[in-house]
Amino acid sequence: MFHDPDLTPFQPPKVRGTIQQLLKNYLTSFPASTYEEPFSLQKNWPFRDNLFVTDPDLIEELLIGRADEFMRDHITRQAGAELDRGSLFLAEGADWRWQRRAVAPTFRHENLLGFVPTFAACAKRRVEIWRKQSGGALDVSAAMTQTTFDIILDAVLGGATALDRDRYLAALASAFKGMPWRMLLAYFGLPASFPHPGRARAHRAGDYGYGEVANLVAARKAQPSDRNDVLNLLIAARDPETGRTMTDAQVIANLYVFISAGHETAATALAWTLWLLAKDQPSQERLRMEVEEVAGGADIGVQDIERLVFTRQVVQEAMRLFPPFPVITRQPKEDTALGPYQISKKQRIIVPTWSLHRHKKLWDEPDGFEPGRFAPENVKDRHRCAYLPFGAGPRICIGMNFAMLEIVTILATLVREFRFSLATGFKLELSTPLTLRSKNGLPLVIEPLRDVSSAPSPRCAARQMTA
Ligand code: HEM
Repeated sequence: MFHDPDLTPFQPPKVRGTIQQLLKNYLTSFPASTYEEPFSLQKNWPFRDNLFVTDPDLIEELLIGRADEFMRDHITRQAGAELDRGSLFLAEGADWRWQRRAVAPTFRHENLLGFVPTFAACAKRRVEIWRKQSGGALDVSAAMTQTTFDIILDAVLGGATALDRDRYLAALASAFKGMPWRMLLAYFGLPASFPHPGRARAHRAGDYGYGEVANLVAARKAQPSDRNDVLNLLIAARDPETGRTMTDAQVIANLYVFISAGHETAATALAWTLWLLAKDQPSQERLRMEVEEVAGGADIGVQDIERLVFTRQVVQEAMRLFPPFPVITRQPKEDTALGPYQISKKQRIIVPTWSLHRHKKLWDEPDGFEPGRFAPENVKDRHRCAYLPFGAGPRICIGMNFAMLEIVTILATLVREFRFSLATGFKLELSTPLTLRSKNGLPLVIEPLRDVSSAPSPRCAARQMTA
């Protein structure tokens, strides 16, 4: 078991954090009881109370058994509306169901396997870039964002190069930055239009992103292609019951969300995983040996993925300690009961994945890094709702299998080529703009391990990628 004070980056506050803390890292507002009790009620008079649920049986009831009785909560809906202007993420009922059905074929396992060569090619491109950047520490967080963004462009848009990657990423970062403020306003019952710092910038950034995606959709409609990418699937999607197709606005909104959610989360997971491996050299070495045994020096391929067992365990353990989405929220459609608790339809129910994954009654040494927890023999008796990086039930992350294939392929490729060690002087400070990030990136010293000449694959959308 690898243990380090950084893995417990803050102590749950006795009294609720200040607004300043909430804006920086809302995890500090989770009551200490969420780490040891099954259920915690947080009184917010005169505002609505929060109900924190950390009992796996109750979570199962909420997200799976009675999923139809709950919806996304009012804070997520209000705060998220700037980023999600009509995709399936915030949709409910029949509107959600048909959009989810329409995009589901893209995320079928057989289809996803076709993306593995792209994942491997983009990872190799990152290897080439890092080989040229000798000396000093490099921020793996920013690098993983670029790499997963190139991948998502390939998968979603067939490698559209019309998009200015760096400008688009900068705009997304500005749009995400507005999220904590929008959540705070929703929490205090104020409209999203209420003046707040960065509001105009975030709105402009959202408009720019949506404008770019709209241009891509218009270009594809003007010049159709037969690629098996998400854009074509969205354009062709038809509700089997009513025969209706998506409006342009729905195609654009779904694309925007796939691009944003699809790269940011995976990048976050990869960056935390590399940082944890930099702390735990024995696990890093074991992972490297596994990759060499399974794939030798060849590109990671579909045939290797199932056999990268320890690599997957490392990723799962990293997402336990640092879940990219550290919270799942719901609200009942009507007044109801959840287990022994009465809940009004105005109440927000929070599944604090962050605390659930560190819950003292569910995990041994919850703050230690131990990939062996996810060995098959250790997983089989665990409650399926004790570990939820992707959620559960009908609204489980649609990109889960895509993300796992992508992360395992990239991680295996990178760890085979480099040794990752900690940069001196780095102090971790968490930040929660949208996903769970480190405020100042994650700088690591990256040392090449072998001399290889790897030709870039023509399938990586990152052909013109700069460092
Ligand atoms: C490590 C990577 C990822 C993590 C940790 C993650 C996590 C999550 C979580 C926690 C949810 C909410 C579940 C709920 O509310 O019950 C979610 C939903 C969603 N995710 Fe992911 N995600 C990841 C990657 C992706 C990717 C690659 C895509 C798309 C390409 C994606 C698209 C979505 C969409 C569209 C939803 C909404 C689903 C619905 O409401 O039906 N995610 N994700």
